[in-house]
Amino acid sequence: MKNLLAPQTLQFTRTANENAATEADRDAILANPGFGKHFTDHMVDICWSKMGGWHRPRVQPYGPISLDPAASVLHYGQEIFEGLKAYRHADGSIWSFRPEANAARLQRSAVRLALPELPTEYFLDALKELIAADGAWVPSAPDTSLYLRPFMFAKEAFLGVRAAEKVNFYIIASPASAYFKGGLAPVSIWLSTNYSRAGKGGTGAAKTGGNYAASLVAQEEAYENGCDQVLFLDSVEETWLEELGGMNIVLVKKDGTLLTPASDSILEGITRDSILQLAADRGHTVERRPISLQEWKDGAASGDIVEAFACGTAAVVAPIGTLKGADFEIVHEAREDSVALSLREQLTGIQYGKVDDTHGWMMRLDA
Ligand code: PLP
Ligand code: COI
Repeated sequence: MKNLLAPQTLQFTRTANENAATEADRDAILANPGFGKHFTDHMVDICWSKMGGWHRPRVQPYGPISLDPAASVLHYGQEIFEGLKAYRHADGSIWSFRPEANAARLQRSAVRLALPELPTEYFLDALKELIAADGAWVPSAPDTSLYLRPFMFAKEAFLGVRAAEKVNFYIIASPASAYFKGGLAPVSIWLSTNYSRAGKGGTGAAKTGGNYAASLVAQEEAYENGCDQVLFLDSVEETWLEELGGMNIVLVKKDGTLLTPASDSILEGITRDSILQLAADRGHTVERRPISLQEWKDGAASGDIVEAFACGTAAVVAPIGTLKGADFEIVHEAREDSVALSLREQLTGIQYGKVDDTHGWMMRLDA
């Protein structure tokens, strides 16, 4: 379903929300947004059909989506999504971070889920259209942002099992502060041994709802064991680190080397890629290769591995304090010269326009 050359610019129609939040209501939400709880006044909605391609782009009031009960997403889960943020800079302007990378990943997810590929230009135009309507929802307090959630699913009412011929793409937006309640306090991770997130040849590298559905029972287990997130191993040998339910993982060695799993069943995080680039710029060695749980255990015990952190758009960079398993625990004490926190500061500095964007990662959304 390749249609990456945008045949024309999309002309969005815009319908203003007559029941938009008042300025006072919006300010109250922006003062304490949390994560994923509040939504802006508008959303993007673009249709796709096998016959007509992408059409009828619009920005419309945020609200329920009407679905036929036979819509195939409800039965077979043909769905993909993305996550990125809009940041307000000191001069009031609004920017996003590497949005073309999210557009490209959405296209890769689409290929895996037999959904249509949305051209990058449409993806970027849609973000700008939503910001044109809801720019006032981008908060300005430190470490806050507007989380943007593009998603696409099979809307065709048809119970035969095949790729849908009617699909919609949406973007909703949600003001956000820290993902973890403890802010920058080290997080605790539960090692899942009962469940896998992804298998060989499966959908692990795609950002599709089913991967998250498969992770939830393990995430519940993590909560029951007092942990914030769950770490999955590879499903074949149950030996190699993969990723957390919603974040990638990086280990830091005493000599400054950064280690991160290479696997074709994990989601290639844009945060991780950027952090590793910044680390390489600083002269750190970066190794993307299979890493066994045993290597982490041994390295932590010998003092060779001194830090671990989780990274992703929602969480940014979160130091890992403990990895708990049914019969072991790895503990990393918080370090004053934490590589994770220093890289986090540089990354967020770029995102909020306070640090030079030497890689040209930022894209303005409101101009
Ligand atoms: N892995 C999973 C399973 C995720 O859900 C995410 C979050 O999007 C990531 C990794 C990190 O990806 P990114 O840094 O692009 O947000
Ligand atoms: C993100 O970081 O954007 C994610 O998708 C992780 C989670 C909130 C699903």
